[in-house]
Amino acid sequence: MFPRKGASEREVLEELEKKTSQDLTFDSGRILGSMCTQPHPLAIEVVRRYIDRNLGDPGLHVGSRKIEEEVIEMLSNLLGLEKGYGHVVSGGTEANILAVRAFRNLSDVEKPELIIPESAHFSFLKAGEMLGVRLVRARLKEDYSVDVKDVENRISEDTIGIVGIAGTTGLGVVDDIPSLSDLALDYGLPLHVDAAFGGFVIPFAKELGYDLPDFDFRLRGVMSVTIDPHKMGMVPIPAGGIIFREKKFLEAISVPAPYLAGGKVWQATITGTRPGANTLAVWAMIKHLGFEGYREIVKTAMELSRWFAGELKRIPGVYLIREPVLNIVSFGTPNLEEVEEKLKERGWGISAHRGYIRIVIMPHVRREHLEEFLRDLRSALLEKG
Ligand SMILES: Cc1ncc(COP(=O)(O)O)c(C=O)c1O
Repeated sequence: MFPRKGASEREVLEELEKKTSQDLTFDSGRILGSMCTQPHPLAIEVVRRYIDRNLGDPGLHVGSRKIEEEVIEMLSNLLGLEKGYGHVVSGGTEANILAVRAFRNLSDVEKPELIIPESAHFSFLKAGEMLGVRLVRARLKEDYSVDVKDVENRISEDTIGIVGIAGTTGLGVVDDIPSLSDLALDYGLPLHVDAAFGGFVIPFAKELGYDLPDFDFRLRGVMSVTIDPHKMGMVPIPAGGIIFREKKFLEAISVPAPYLAGGKVWQATITGTRPGANTLAVWAMIKHLGFEGYREIVKTAMELSRWFAGELKRIPGVYLIREPVLNIVSFGTPNLEEVEEKLKERGWGISAHRGYIRIVIMPHVRREHLEEFLRDLRSALLEKG
């Protein structure tokens, strides 16, 4: 009910505290199945200070607009491009929708089709439905990466683009983006790489010596990349990222916004009014951590993932779906749903809806949390049946 009389600030805060006490929090270490994390304190401070900035009306917040441009330049550089074009957006979903929208608007086919791996995130379902683009799914190989031959077989006259994934949602698998890029070049099609998760992992993991393929603009066929600071970038939600190789992609999705207080602009994002503070937080985090800071975060997460995978393999009945590629470890157990329920009862934020339990070793997850989880998993397995 909409209250007639207002309550005091204290009362409101107390009520909120009570109501949110049911929430799992990242700092408890109990959330093991999410790609979000406890934001860095500096990023929280930046959001607090600049909470009123609206990048939907950049003429009013010229300084913030310039900072967004710097963010796009820094993200482009991370992804192997001197100058890219894009925006900090609400998340990987919006970024993927923008990429599909650009590919569709630049194509001239009547019944547009997009080829996506079977492992693609459900955001492409939204993109397909909203944009009138038919999704054509390509098979996966035994290692759960997309079968590039199957992608090729599915190219038709109506294909507007191809999608590859650098860090799948379920297993963290990185598709063979170099081959997809060659294929895209051969057929004159644009390739979009969904690195919503992997974008803030792979560049650092590669420098640490992990054997991962190129996945970004270093490959000539790659025309756009999704990269989300609100996942491994340590920035508060919402902060996704879309980068295009050329300006024409951004122009193809820009509409005139004539009535804004700050003057007429062209707007490409799905959201109109959008938070400048989070973009400033992305800028702050990149400046503060630098490549080396992120590399250390990724090093810890990757090492912990390999240790955890090793521990899982020692539990009778438990099996890995595949060896971890990034900092995601997914495993199966006998009576999976029962085990999932028992773990949830013990307060763990996990899910088994894909047919396995997926643990994302985000920066808030520490070894002691995983040790406790392993103890609970063992006891849940013993209890069953
Ligand atoms: C590979 C991939 N793409 C896109 C998304 C969507 O991102 P968001 O939830 O920020 O919209 C996710 C989210 O998990 C993802 O894993």
